[in-house]
Amino acid sequence: MEKSVNLKDIDRAKLAAATIAVEYVKDGMNVGLGTGSTAAWMIKCLADKIYNEGISIKAVPTSNQTAKLALEHQIPITTLDEVKFLDITIDGTDECDENYNLIKGGGAALLHEKIVAAASKKVIIIADQFKYVDTLGSFPLPVELIKFGWSSSKDCVVSILNKLGYKSYQINLRMNDNVPLKTDEKNFILDLELAEISEPLLLSRELNLVPGVVENGLFINSCDLLILGENAGKVSVHEPSRNLVSSRDVDVDRIFREFKY
Ligand code: 5RP
Repeated sequence: MEKSVNLKDIDRAKLAAATIAVEYVKDGMNVGLGTGSTAAWMIKCLADKIYNEGISIKAVPTSNQTAKLALEHQIPITTLDEVKFLDITIDGTDECDENYNLIKGGGAALLHEKIVAAASKKVIIIADQFKYVDTLGSFPLPVELIKFGWSSSKDCVVSILNKLGYKSYQINLRMNDNVPLKTDEKNFILDLELAEISEPLLLSRELNLVPGVVENGLFINSCDLLILGENAGKVSVHEPSRNLVSSRDVDVDRIFREFKY
C-alpha cells in the first residue's frame, strides 16, 4: 500500500538534508548516529539504504533514544569501545554559525555526541535552514554537569559568565515532568540563555574548567560538512575546509512514499 504524503514543511527540510547525508555512508563503514528529530529522519534514510543496497555497517548511537530507533529500523548497533573509531558521523544541530561552530544538546545527548564526533573521521551535520545563524546564542547553551553539588557548579558558571562580560543572562536547570532531567549518564543539564555568544571557543574552554561540569554544547571545529535542507526539498551542501557550497534538489515526497519502514 502506498503511503500518503502528509509531511510538515520542517520535516521536508530535515528529510531532504538526511537523504543527501546518507549518500556518504559506504559499505563496511563504522557510522555514528546522532540524536534528535533530524537524526531520526537520517536513521530512516540509512535503514532504507541498507535495505536497498545491501550494504553492511556498524552503527554507534549517541543516545538510548537513538539506539532504540536504530534497532527498530534493523540497523546493527555496537559501542564506540568495540569499534574504537568511526568513519563518519551524521548528527543534527540546534544552531550553526558561519564559522560552522555549533550549539548542540537540545536533545540532552551532547556528551555522547561530542565523544562520538571526536572519534569520527568525518562529521556531517544535517539541519533545516533555520538552524543556520549569524551568531550563536539564540538557542540556550546546554551545559551537562554532575548531580553532586550542581548548585555550586552553577555558581561557578555564573562567575565565568560575569567575568566574560555576559549581561542579563538566565540559567535554567532543565526539567522533565517537574523533576530535573537526567541525561543518559544520569547527569543534569543547565540551559544558559545568553542571547549572543561572541567568543564560543573561549566560553567553551572556561565552562569545561568548572568542577562538576562534564561538557558543554559548543562544538567548535567539529563540523566537516554541513547539509541544510529547505522546505521545498532544496539542499545546500557546505564544505567548510574548501569553502565550497553546492546545491541539490530532493524529491522528498517520493522518498517518503518509498520508505520501507
Ligand atoms: C541532541 C542534539 C540534536 O542534534 C539537536 O538538538 C537538534 O535536534 P533536532 O534535529 O530535533 O532539531 O544536539 O542532543
